[in-house]
Amino acid sequence: MSVDLIVLDDAATAARRAGELLAEAARSGGHIALSGGTSPELAHETAATLEPDWSAVELWWGDERCVPPEDERSNYAMAKRTLIDRLEVPPARVHRVRGELDPEAAASEYDAALRGVRLRLNVLGLGPDGHTASLFPHAPSLHERERLAVAAEPGLDPRVMRVTMTPPMLANADCVLFLVTGQEKADAVRRAFEEPADDATPASRIRAHDGQTIALLDRPAASRLASI
Ligand code: 6PG
Repeated sequence: MSVDLIVLDDAATAARRAGELLAEAARSGGHIALSGGTSPELAHETAATLEPDWSAVELWWGDERCVPPEDERSNYAMAKRTLIDRLEVPPARVHRVRGELDPEAAASEYDAALRGVRLRLNVLGLGPDGHTASLFPHAPSLHERERLAVAAEPGLDPRVMRVTMTPPMLANADCVLFLVTGQEKADAVRRAFEEPADDATPASRIRAHDGQTIALLDRPAASRLASI
């Protein structure tokens, strides 16, 4: 369950570094999965500036909130605003989770679409509770082995149903990139990247299968790591 820790001075520097890695992946092409939340916004903007042509990319999401695509809580809406609408050449395909559908129906549709997909890059965040994508502490989906996407109960705000990739799909990547910033995440970072894997900290169970796992942190988020 090894992870390469990269600690940078502040949140903006870490986000820009993530943007460089996103741009590199877009240039070489393949399947890229984006994270939701707020941390990736500057990474997206940086990637769009560094690489405006995403024609070699098929875009996915690690999770989505079950809301319409124009809703401000939508992870798709955030990526459209901070990345897709800023590109000169859009991705070859955008595989949006249809959050406006019934959650089970949206999850089944996404599960079917993901069959046979190997991610070139999977960008993930981390919540203060240790969740990643929409895999929350002690969620049954943490032990899902068949389905690649499932409906999930929210563990934090926004309190709407979610659709999330499951651990086998999140790990099916050449590179899993966690972008985590802020003091409020320091304890979750320690549990996710230095403690043994545990259902109380879902991110501790996600590492690239036959690939690299990177945790890109700012100093406050890394402040409780013994190894740093
Ligand atoms: C979501 C995300 C979620 C997010 C973390 C961190 O849909 O909410 O995919 O897993 O990455 O909650 O969010 P912040 O970056 O906003 O702290």
